[in-house]
Amino acid sequence: MRILVVGGGGREHALVWKLSQSPMVDAIYCAPGNPGIAEKASCVPISSEDLEGLLELAQEKHIDLTVVGPEAPLVAGIADLFAQHGLRVFGPFQAGARLEGSKVWAKQFMEKYGIPTARARYFNQAAAAKAYVEEVGAPLVVKADGLAAGKGVTVAATKEEAWAAIENCMEKGAFGAAGKKVVIEEFLEGEEVSILAFTDGHTIVPMVPSQDHKRAYDGDQGPNTGGMGAYSPPPAYTADIAERVEAEILQPTLMGLAAEGIDYRGVLYAGLIITADGPKVLEFNVRFGDPETQPVLLRLESDLLEIMLAVVERRLSEVAPRIGWSDQASACVILASGGYPGPYVAGRPITGLDGLPPGVVAFHAGTKRVDGQLVTAGGRVLGISACGPTVAQALDRVYQAIPSIHFQDMHYRHDIGWRAGYHGCQAQASSGFLALDGRDGGPRAGNGKAGTWPFRLGGPD
Ligand code: AMP
Ligand code: GLY
Repeated sequence: MRILVVGGGGREHALVWKLSQSPMVDAIYCAPGNPGIAEKASCVPISSEDLEGLLELAQEKHIDLTVVGPEAPLVAGIADLFAQHGLRVFGPFQAGARLEGSKVWAKQFMEKYGIPTARARYFNQAAAAKAYVEEVGAPLVVKADGLAAGKGVTVAATKEEAWAAIENCMEKGAFGAAGKKVVIEEFLEGEEVSILAFTDGHTIVPMVPSQDHKRAYDGDQGPNTGGMGAYSPPPAYTADIAERVEAEILQPTLMGLAAEGIDYRGVLYAGLIITADGPKVLEFNVRFGDPETQPVLLRLESDLLEIMLAVVERRLSEVAPRIGWSDQASACVILASGGYPGPYVAGRPITGLDGLPPGVVAFHAGTKRVDGQLVTAGGRVLGISACGPTVAQALDRVYQAIPSIHFQDMHYRHDIGWRAGYHGCQAQASSGFLALDGRDGGPRAGNGKAGTWPFRLGGPD
């Protein structure tokens, strides 16, 4: 089979890495890809948002299945366009992609189908939004309706911050059309967990749970980023919570999509917060998470292509019982450019990737090759990943490998997995040397495997 993967970050590197292990694969193309991906796939310099260019590529290379990494092409309708030309895509059509493409639509969907989420109000006038903030007071959360490259959410501790976010979105146009409407919702407290699930619209199979670390600095301080690291499984996702998520969130979502007449095939990503009242949805995404995909796919023992084909052919129920996950835990630590998520300098030479210990994988995110030299080319540069018997041991393997990797002004978090009992490693800023402190390995979490799954809607597959 000939596969096209759309995108060029760490998530897409993990997808290509896993797909390349399938005996069914004859060739993998990736657009635009990156130098890490280029070791396993033919990279073609077409942007993931150039739908016509991607269509031409898929036709020219006789692609059997296109796997879409990022949300923007899905929201723009890549699955619809490809289907019109008889090409198969792993990823939802535009109608289903609204779950991520419009926060207003997603909230209304959740309300309609009784899916637990933060209470919310919607506004298309700044004055009304501000009056509402005045009435209910802080803390609350202001979200731009549309895609805003992960920057459209403001957790406002004060009314002034909420007003500033409303002005930024609705009056200053910081996110263009994506900020014309806003959702204002109650502030929820709890641990966040990411649940990615395969679904063909009839059957939904959750992958192992993971936890992202969105803040830039240790101790969950500093600005929000695309994600500074992730691990699996998070101990907050107990068997009891897993059951509730299945019954209260995933099943009603699948039924709601079917009731809306939406043919949804791909990944459904539920960004959850585990509150004192139980799990609630913070957001839906319609694709694999980045960096959650890296630790999740490290634990997948089955053939990813076989699962993806079953999803697009609406026979996931057939392969679901065979989907196997490793008992090992896994982790990914992002090495970022100095300054990220603010401005940073690109083009820094990267060294030390050749001598990584066995089992440690460096997923490339923002890298490129210039005259044969690997250099930085993005905020998130590399995702150093490994498995281990516990989350702490997986992280030890990652953190022990990192000191050999170098690029100027590299920064990363030293405390990925702290909620799983990992005590972190300590950086000595001057030398970049890492001293691992003593630890007991942390609590051994459940393996996070799915319990009663797959859940299946009635009716023909
Ligand atoms: P989102 O893009 O909707 O996931 O929001 C980005 C981040 O903002 C989430 O990962 C949470 O940390 C935070 N967040 C979003 N909604 C809420 C909420 N209702 N209460 C508390 N924090 C939130
Ligand atoms: N890691 C968060 C996301 O992929 O949206």
